[in-house]
Amino acid sequence: MVGTRADRGITELPSGGTSLPKEYHSPTLVEMRGISKSFGAVRAVEEVDLLLHRQEILGLVGDNAAGKSTLMKVLAAVHRPDRGTILMEGREVRFRSPAEARRQGIEMIYQDFSLAPNLNIPDNIFLGREAVKRVLGVGFLDRPRMEEASRTALAHTGIAIDNMRALVTELSGGQMQAVAIARATALAAKVIIMDEPTASLSVKAIPPLLDLIGRLRQAGASIVFITHRIQDIFSTCDRIMVLRRGRCVGVAPSSQTDVEEVTALITGAREAYSSGSMASSA
Ligand SMILES: Nc1ncnc2c1ncn2[C@@H]1O[C@H](COP(=O)(O)OP(=O)(O)O)[C@@H](O)[C@H]1O
Ligand SMILES: [Mg+2]
Repeated sequence: MVGTRADRGITELPSGGTSLPKEYHSPTLVEMRGISKSFGAVRAVEEVDLLLHRQEILGLVGDNAAGKSTLMKVLAAVHRPDRGTILMEGREVRFRSPAEARRQGIEMIYQDFSLAPNLNIPDNIFLGREAVKRVLGVGFLDRPRMEEASRTALAHTGIAIDNMRALVTELSGGQMQAVAIARATALAAKVIIMDEPTASLSVKAIPPLLDLIGRLRQAGASIVFITHRIQDIFSTCDRIMVLRRGRCVGVAPSSQTDVEEVTALITGAREAYSSGSMASSA
């Protein structure tokens, strides 16, 4: 099937209504259309379209420098796109800052977690959250309350931190990640973007994280899971999107593709559209 998106490098989803998983029938939460972003001569992201459905886990994969972080930083309003539009719940949005994107429910957990090292846990979780008061009608500047809410949010991550007043510099990698995730959940984010969340974890800590991603979805969030450990995405993600050199070279439900195909698209061993379920366009 040749669509208008094909010339932008988007592989159309397979047709055949009844065989589609139910998530395709659920409303679209985020739609990015024709997003491009360059840094000087580097075309980090070129004409990329992305859909994220409600309570969907989307795996975003690609080699180093494929443009994964840049695309998601455009969604989180860290970068302004050179071209393209973003719709949330069907309406075009133009966030002026990451703080504004966050207030609208988009949380990005960065590769380095971007926590404030010299602040304690509740201060990090509520950093820059002045709007929280207005949104929830609750005075979060109240310290015991911030601690209580932080404890609750952390409990959901399944990682225990006894001393809530510990500074971030005193925490392990896994604990820092838990704080970053708690920050995302404390405000009931609609979209949680996790940039290479497994990179800082020991092998043992990865299954609990994947489990947590599933629980965040159960709680109502949609998740973009950036990784290059492709074995993790098949167990966790509903759909998989592959970026290569700034372009989308394939997108398909995880159940309709496999490690070989995704690997081939990541490395360029297989070009989009040649064959396979991620390449259904002629
Ligand atoms: N802030 C920046 N300034 C200049 N170049 C950047 C910046 N961020 C990313 N890039 C470049 O854009 C390309 C895509 O990077 P990135 O989005 O980080 O890829 P990925 O996350 O897939 O590894 C790379 O060539 C990278 O060097
Ligand atoms: Mg990256």
